Amino acid sequence: MPASSETSAPDLVLDGCTKRFHTAGREVVTALDHVDLSVEPGTFVSIIGSNGAGKSTMLSLIAGSLLADEGRILVRDHDVTTMPSWKRIRRVSRVRQNPQDNMVSTLTIEENFALALAGKKGRFALRRTSSSTVREIAAEVLRPLGMGLEDRMSTVSGSLSGGQRQAIAVAMASLGSPAVMLLDEHVAALDPNSAARVNEVTERIVRDQQITALMVTHDMGHALTHADRLLMMHQGRIVLDFEGSDLTGLTVRDLQQRFVRLSGGTLSDAAILSAEGETRA
Ligand SMILES: Nc1ncnc2c1ncn2[C@@H]1O[C@H](COP(=O)(O)OP(=O)(O)OP(=O)(O)O)[C@@H](O)[C@H]1O
Ligand SMILES: [Mg+2]
Repeated sequence: MPASSETSAPDLVLDGCTKRFHTAGREVVTALDHVDLSVEPGTFVSIIGSNGAGKSTMLSLIAGSLLADEGRILVRDHDVTTMPSWKRIRRVSRVRQNPQDNMVSTLTIEENFALALAGKKGRFALRRTSSSTVREIAAEVLRPLGMGLEDRMSTVSGSLSGGQRQAIAVAMASLGSPAVMLLDEHVAALDPNSAARVNEVTERIVRDQQITALMVTHDMGHALTHADRLLMMHQGRIVLDFEGSDLTGLTVRDLQQRFVRLSGGTLSDAAILSAEGETRA
């Protein structure tokens, strides 16, 4: 459950956020449609939804890589609606699906950490942090993962497995205590064992540091069993929002059926669906 008291201010607020795209054929796609969302500190939110539902667009608006056409975004009471993404890095971190988007593969683990730390200091603060300080900070977040990565600081990132790189990416995203961590299908490109490992690492980091996290996943079983709150998106809207006791006893099958009812589709349309039989305890 969320770590902080119910009376604390939300870490994240979306107020009527809308994003439209103009396609080449001049058609307008409403990727995000007047979305309202408020997330309490320390909440681990899973986001599910079919392809094109608007999940990545919502995360991009929060990260600042896209700006909203309408609405407001507040991160810990700061209005970041029009703030460029580089200015948000200290408040909002993001891990993407592909390992090569999260680290520079030609640089070592240490060099990647040095870059991440420089980013946290702001755009013009690329002054070098000493190697020993970088190693110390990196070891602090890598050692608890139990993967031995803290002993491989001179290893070139590109030679690591996808799972190792994604685990490091999540650790780097936790640097500087961000208000919100965004995870956009960050285990989707991994084999099942690595995905399970990175999910475990993610949960450990997010829980230990009590980071408010939004995780997009197509693994409904995982979303159901590990999150404090579960959102389902469809056609640019949040169509289901379950938290606390709403989640108790809920099965993947229940979610599939809800999806079918809400989308007007069939079970086979539900591309969001994954392993059946998992139930929220
Ligand atoms: N840069 C863009 N230009 C035009 N249309 C876009 C762009 N980015 C997203 N869209 C459209 O906006 C809608 C939402 O896309 P988005 O990527 O947010 O979906 P998603 O829920 O993340 O899907 P997926 O599960 O496939 O990752 C889709 O119809 C998509 O085609
Ligand atoms: Mg997406």
